[in-house]
Amino acid sequence: MKNRKFVNPVFPHFVHGADYNPEQWVKTKNIWDDDIRLMKEAGCNEMTLGIFSWSVIEPSEGVFDFSFLDEIIERIYSSGGRVVLSTPSGARPRWLSEKYPEVLRVSRWGQRYHFGERHNHCFTSPAYREKVKIINAKLAERYSHHPAVIAWHVSNEYGGECYCPLCTEAFRNYLRNKFENDIEKLNDAYWTTFWSHRYSDFSQIEPPSELSDMGIHGLNLDWRRFVTEQTIDFMREEIAPLKKANPSIPVTTNMMYDFDGLDYFKFRDYIDFAAWDCYPKWHSGDNAETAENAAFWHDFYRSLKMKPFFMMESTPSQVNWHEYNKLKRPGMDTLSSLQAIAHGSDSVQYFQWRKSRGSSEKFHGAVVGHDGTNDTRVFRSVRKTGEILSLIDEITGSMVESEAAIIMDWENRWALSDSQGFARYDKKYTETLYSFHKFFWSHGINCDIVHPEDDLSKYKLVVAPMMYLINQVSADNLKKYVREGGILISTYQLGMVDENDLCYLGRTPGCGLDELFGIWREETDTLYPDQKGRVKFGGQEYSVIDIAEVIHSSHADVLAEFSADYYSSFPALTSNRYGKGKALYIAFRDNGDFINDLMSVIISDAKIKKNIPSDGSLPYGITAHTRTDGENIYLFVANYGEKNTVILPLGKPYYDIIGGKTISDVLLKPFDFFILKTER
Ligand code: GAL
Repeated sequence: MKNRKFVNPVFPHFVHGADYNPEQWVKTKNIWDDDIRLMKEAGCNEMTLGIFSWSVIEPSEGVFDFSFLDEIIERIYSSGGRVVLSTPSGARPRWLSEKYPEVLRVSRWGQRYHFGERHNHCFTSPAYREKVKIINAKLAERYSHHPAVIAWHVSNEYGGECYCPLCTEAFRNYLRNKFENDIEKLNDAYWTTFWSHRYSDFSQIEPPSELSDMGIHGLNLDWRRFVTEQTIDFMREEIAPLKKANPSIPVTTNMMYDFDGLDYFKFRDYIDFAAWDCYPKWHSGDNAETAENAAFWHDFYRSLKMKPFFMMESTPSQVNWHEYNKLKRPGMDTLSSLQAIAHGSDSVQYFQWRKSRGSSEKFHGAVVGHDGTNDTRVFRSVRKTGEILSLIDEITGSMVESEAAIIMDWENRWALSDSQGFARYDKKYTETLYSFHKFFWSHGINCDIVHPEDDLSKYKLVVAPMMYLINQVSADNLKKYVREGGILISTYQLGMVDENDLCYLGRTPGCGLDELFGIWREETDTLYPDQKGRVKFGGQEYSVIDIAEVIHSSHADVLAEFSADYYSSFPALTSNRYGKGKALYIAFRDNGDFINDLMSVIISDAKIKKNIPSDGSLPYGITAHTRTDGENIYLFVANYGEKNTVILPLGKPYYDIIGGKTISDVLLKPFDFFILKTER
C-alpha cells in the first residue's frame, strides 16, 4: 500500500516556484507578461504572493484594493500555475505605525523604534493583532476558495523581541500564571536570594536586559519561553480567520535555518506543514561540511511534522546578506535543490522570482535578473531543476524512514549558552549535534532530529548530546526508550540543571540518569583552545578537545579511559545495560575521529541500515538518502565534493529515473547526483 502524505492533496506534485513581488512592477505591466511567459519556460508551477504587499492592498486604513492580487492570481492560474498566498504581517504600511505607535517595537535599551525596515512589530499589541486579523480575514474571504491557492504562508520569518510596556505586562502575567500567583514560588525557582535579587511582587519583574538583570538564569529562560509563546499566540490569531474561511487550505510559516530565538518545536502543533528558508554558504570552505550542515536542518524541518515539508526559500545564485556573497557554481543550484527533495521536501522555491530594481535586495539572486531574459546561466539551471522535478514527480508525498535520531532541544540550547563556566562564550551545542549528524550523513544513513519528549520507540539508535538541561519527563522518556531495547548515546554535560536552570543536587546526571548510565560525575574540566587531552579506546589513542569530565562508573562497563592528566585511567566512555537496551556515555569532546570509530561499532551492533552498503564511510563528499512511498524506495546519491570523481557500486540494480535505464553503479563527477528507484 502506498504511504504518501501530500502537503495539499488537491495538488499532489512537487512545487517549483518562488517569492514573487509583482506589486513592485504594477506600473510596467509588460514585465508581468514576461513573468507569466518565463515562469512556464522555467518549469515553475507556483508563486508565493503577498508577503510584503500590505501597503498596496490597504493603502490607507480600511481602504482595500485587491485589484493587483486578483489579476496576478488569475493570470498565474490560467497559465497553469498555483499560488502560495501570504498574510502581510511581516511588514506593515506606514499609516499603521503613525496611527497606532504601540505597534512599533521597543528595544532592550528601552527605545521605541521608528517606522522602517520589517519584521519589527510588537507581537502583543492589540492594535496590531486587530489590523492583522482584519486584513487576513479579507484575504481569506476573497481567495481561500480560489483553485489557485494551495497553501497559506503566514507572515514572514517570525522573530525578535519587544520590551514595550505591553510585552512587559504580558510577561508578568505569563509568570503569574506559571507560578500560580505566588511570588515565593518564583523566588525559589529563580534562586533570587543570590545577590539579594528577591522579588516581593510580580509587578517588579522586568524582561531581562543589560538595563535590568541578566544574571537570573531562570528568568532568562522564562523570557525566551515567553517570547516563543507570545509569537505563537500572535500566529494563532493570524491563522484563525484563514481556517475559518476554508479549513482545508494548509497553513505554514517560513522558519529560519538554525535560528536560536524561537523554540520551533513549539510551532509544530499549529502549522499543517513545516517550511524553511535555506541559505547555506556554498563554496565557502569544505563543501561537504556545508552540505552536511544544510542536511541537518532539512532533517530537522522534516522531523518537525514527520512528513514532507517545503524549502520555501533558497537562492538560485547568491544572497546579498552573507559577509561575502559568492555565486553558486554551475551545478550547485540543481544539486542543492535536489538535496532538499532527498531529505523530504516537496518543494524547491526560490527567493526570488524577479530581482527588485531598487532598495536593499536589488543585488540578491533571482530566477530572472535585471536583464529580464531567459538567456542566463541561472535561468537555465532553474529550468533544468524544473525538468528534473517533473521527471521525478511520483516521489511527491513519499516519506523518509529513519532508524537513527538525534535529540535537539531549544531550552537546553538557551540554558547552555547562558551558563557561565565551561568555555564561557562558545558551548558548541549545535556543532556537537552536527558532528554526530555528520557521521550518519557521510555513511548514507537517514537520521531524524527529534525533541527529548518525542516517542523514540521506532529508533534503533538515539544520540542525545550535551543534554545539560533536562526535565523529569524527558529523562523518563530516555529511560523508557532504553528499557524497551533502544541504544542511547549521550555525552558530557548531561543532566546538570532542571527546567528552571537550577543545578541538580546529589549525584549527577540528575533525574535518575545516573542510574540509566551507571555513572556519576565528579568534576568538569575545560581545556584552553590550543590544548589537547588524550583517551585510549580499542588500542588507539584519540585527542580530547574543549571539555573532559571526571566521572566514576557505579555499575557501567568502562570501554575507554583518559590517558593523560590527573584523571588518566578515569572512564572516558562507558556502557550500561538497562532493561533490554544500553546507554553509552562519552565524557569528552573529540575532533571527530573518536565519534567516527565509536559510531561505526555502534551502528553495526544496532544493525542500522546504510542506504548503500559500504565498508566505513562513503567516499569524501558523497552521500545517499532515501524516501519511500511504501512500495518503492527512492535513492538519492550526490557528490558535494568540488574535485573528486567517484565510481560507486550501489550494491544492487536500481532504475535510474532521469537516465531511463537500470544500473548497478554510478559515476559521480563533482556536483553530480542520481535519483534511483527500486521495489521496497
Ligand atoms: C529571507 C526573507 C526574504 C528575503 C531573503 C533574502 O530571510 O524571508 O524576504 O529577504 O531572506 O535572502
